[in-house]
Amino acid sequence: MTLGLTIRKPVADDGNAVHRLIAACPPLDTNSLYCNLLQCTHFSDSCAVAENGEALVGSLSGYRLPNSPDVLFVWQVAVSEAARGTGVAGQMLRNILRRPENAEVRYVHTTVTETNASSRAFFRKFANGLGAQWAEEKYFDQDMHLAGEHPSEFLLRIGPFDLAAAD
Ligand SMILES: CC(C)(COP(=O)(O)OP(=O)(O)OC[C@H]1O[C@@H](n2cnc3c(N)ncnc32)[C@H](O)[C@@H]1OP(=O)(O)O)[C@@H](O)C(=O)NCCC(=O)NCCS
Repeated sequence: MTLGLTIRKPVADDGNAVHRLIAACPPLDTNSLYCNLLQCTHFSDSCAVAENGEALVGSLSGYRLPNSPDVLFVWQVAVSEAARGTGVAGQMLRNILRRPENAEVRYVHTTVTETNASSRAFFRKFANGLGAQWAEEKYFDQDMHLAGEHPSEFLLRIGPFDLAAAD
């Protein structure tokens, strides 16, 4: 499945395919197509897509925290079912972190629900691979912040790390 895999920054023309991929990857919430277009353009330095031939098989969206630019916040990671388990998600995250424009990033933050085992395992493997510390705290509460409609989201803080030293 990884034959011909290309990881790159997204562009506006990817917006539609990113939107459809996320819709096909529960438990991810869909956002508006317009939101995905902004990620693919204004935030392309901190986002990645994975292509296998013509097919878009992966998307990772993120941004540097406005007041803490050494933190990459990972918003959503989606890999098409057929491409899972081959390292696509990990390659997208490392591709972003290896870009010269992200050289000062020392932390990855993300939020996960209590039961998203694949997401937790993915970030745990990433942290362990770098020998990085891991901290976790409740961030968005189901009742207080998410209108009772979505399970609580826990903030994972990974770092500090030095990717170059770990290569
Ligand atoms: C989570 C997701 C992005 C992982 O994509 P992926 O390309 O298969 O991940 P990788 O191959 O890079 O996996 C890296 C590590 O993550 C962990 N992992 C990934 N998928 C897993 C699963 N289903 N169950 C348990 N661990 C999993 C493993 O530790 C894996 O390393 P290993 O293969 O050496 O055991 C993908 O399963 C997905 O799109 N899920 C639905 C959407 C979602 O939940 N997104 C939130 C993710 S952060």
